[in-house]
Amino acid sequence: MITRIVKIICLLGIFGIAVAKTSSTASKSTKQDSVHSQTPKEKAQVCAACHNQTGISTTPLWPNIAGQHKKYLVKQITEIRDNTRQVPEMHAFVKSLSDKDISEIAEYFSSQKPAVGVSSMENLNIAKSMFFSGSMDKRKIPACGTCHNFTGEGLQLTNFPSLAGQHPEYLKKQLSDFRSGERKNDESAVMRSIAKYLTDEEINALADYISGIQKIDSKK
Ligand code: HEC
Ligand code: HEC
Repeated sequence: MITRIVKIICLLGIFGIAVAKTSSTASKSTKQDSVHSQTPKEKAQVCAACHNQTGISTTPLWPNIAGQHKKYLVKQITEIRDNTRQVPEMHAFVKSLSDKDISEIAEYFSSQKPAVGVSSMENLNIAKSMFFSGSMDKRKIPACGTCHNFTGEGLQLTNFPSLAGQHPEYLKKQLSDFRSGERKNDESAVMRSIAKYLTDEEINALADYISGIQKIDSKK
């Protein structure tokens, strides 16, 4: 943990210098490529303090981004840069990225091998029923799998993110944030209108199931 904090402080220092150098020319609408000579891997280095160079993080609330659809990564990084999705911890690291930087970094992480998680298998029935069938009661929640795919892999074309293998703690936080409206960057409030009906028990069960979905499925 201490080494990670030191890493972050060092990166913030380097970043501070980079910002100071470019801030006179870069404005919000016309971002300059931060460092022209850098390869995508080098540009992604700044993300490694939290998301790791492999895109698979070791801290439960810092999401895995390896193997995620490029289009979804571009949307999130851009929205975090522009504060449409508020992530104070990360904002300083992305606020000066150009659209081209973002595209290259997204390509880099999306081409990496996704994480494979483990489920505790607790409340599996609650999770599976919601994931595969939704709720038949008056809440009329659509099955998660219709959008996120029944394998949890999502769909690039429609920008439905892959969820399989994600940290359960991060998944829980996102579902709670959609439910409370804290996260509101989902188009047409698609996730907010679903999450607002979910109970804590369902959120916990879903997060646990989804994180281990690849292994559970292979056992069938
Ligand atoms: C200081 C730690 C930190 C750094 C450095 C950082 N991030 Fe993040 N990132 C986070 C946290 C924390 C979240 C999740 C916030 C939340 O709970 O919504 C996040 C979320 C994301 C997401 C959204 C993932 C999803 O599934 O929706 C993407 C994509 C992302 N980061 C990419 C990057 C990239 C690319 C960089 C480097 C340019 C970077 N991050 C640097 C901490 C960091
Ligand atoms: C109608 C399509 C649809 C359905 C049904 C749906 N989702 Fe989503 N979900 C989305 C979209 C689109 C996003 C991305 C929002 C954005 O752009 O930030 C998303 C995002 C998420 C995220 C955040 C992922 C991340 O990496 O940050 C989680 C977690 C999630 N959905 C879980 C669920 C669960 C659990 C269910 C079922 C109860 C569900 N979704 C049902 C469309 C859907």
